Amino acid sequence: MLAIFGGEPVKKTEFMSWPVTKELDKELLLETIRSGKWSNGSKKAEFEARFAADCDVKHVFAVANGTVSLELILRGLGIGYGDEVILPPYTFVATLSSIVFAGATPVFADIDRGTYDISPASVEEKITPNTKAIVAVAIGGCPPDLDALTEIAQKYNVKLIVDAAQGVGAIWNGKSICAYGDAASISCQNSKNLTSGEGGIITTNHDELAAAIAQMLRGGYVEDENGERVYTTVGQDQNISEFQASLLLSQYDKLYAEMAVREKNAAYLAGRMKPMEFAHAMNYDDRIDRHAYHLFVIRLDSEKFAEKGITREQFIKALNAEGIPLSVGYNPLYTFPCITVPYTEELIGTKITVENLPESELAAYKEGTWLYQACLLGTREDMDMIADAMIKVWEHADEIKGL
Ligand SMILES: Cc1ncc(COP(=O)(O)O)c(C=O)c1O
Repeated sequence: MLAIFGGEPVKKTEFMSWPVTKELDKELLLETIRSGKWSNGSKKAEFEARFAADCDVKHVFAVANGTVSLELILRGLGIGYGDEVILPPYTFVATLSSIVFAGATPVFADIDRGTYDISPASVEEKITPNTKAIVAVAIGGCPPDLDALTEIAQKYNVKLIVDAAQGVGAIWNGKSICAYGDAASISCQNSKNLTSGEGGIITTNHDELAAAIAQMLRGGYVEDENGERVYTTVGQDQNISEFQASLLLSQYDKLYAEMAVREKNAAYLAGRMKPMEFAHAMNYDDRIDRHAYHLFVIRLDSEKFAEKGITREQFIKALNAEGIPLSVGYNPLYTFPCITVPYTEELIGTKITVENLPESELAAYKEGTWLYQACLLGTREDMDMIADAMIKVWEHADEIKGL
């Protein structure tokens, strides 16, 4: 019997909670407290150097969060008022708000059904003479097609920014996703695979952009020939504190081992899902060398669901009762009221075009679901329970129609 009607749930214990703390967190935090150096110290410098070496990038800035990091990149590239920036609507709102705070105009391109990342073909359709940048999000930690996007950016002479907020550690075609394009941005907010509670990281190989970002992060000055500070731009101190940098350093120690567990479990779960006609794991492109799996995205088959006469929401309700925390994903950003409020129009000086994009609509309202990354840190038995519970609910589909 289904658990929602009083039967035994397939999974009787909770999945792992997040974040996972360890002794080194406390040791480094105490060290920092005692050092009396609570900002712009050795912990931040050490983390930035380690991260730069691992991603093989020249410049890394650890900053307050993964929203200001995007805004700093855009501003550092000189993108603002009157400039168009292409982004997907199927992402966290910060991808949009950073563009708006930079004063630029967001333009939505559709997503790819196989990955839920931005579709290069749709990006190309949205390019106009005013386009200055593309923001490609690695949804759930899945690298977007960075080969195609790099080619488009070069062809139209526009900037490419990787919103790797969910994609720390991901590798596309031999290179960290943070080494593609003009710059990349990561979030270290509480839920993320590498977290310091709040935090963000900027990576870039471009010296000029790095210099512009560094200037903004110290309040906007450059030094003249006499060593005097001259404020030639408006900046903001968005640097991460030494406490956050301490946590990043200690948490970073376990990132790659956890990534290996997630990848192994994800591959196993995807294998278990292969025979399922009603639910699909997302495509795993041959050029993905490492997937960050911030989310394990599952595409429910809307045609099969329609044939059965059940909805995604009914399926999720019954699955949750079985102890599997599957949830729905994003709504398209172009449906958010903040798109049309006067404040947004004042910030960017124009209206944002609202157009329904079919793949984004399908993902948002019918097919998109996901499991949160900590579920993938469990055992093989946990993965079996996820698959078994999905099959159980599907086999009892007729009973959940009234939910
Ligand atoms: C795709 C994406 N971009 C940007 C952000 C913003 O990061 P933060 O919450 O650190 O500001 C997030 C955070 O969830 C995100 O998922």
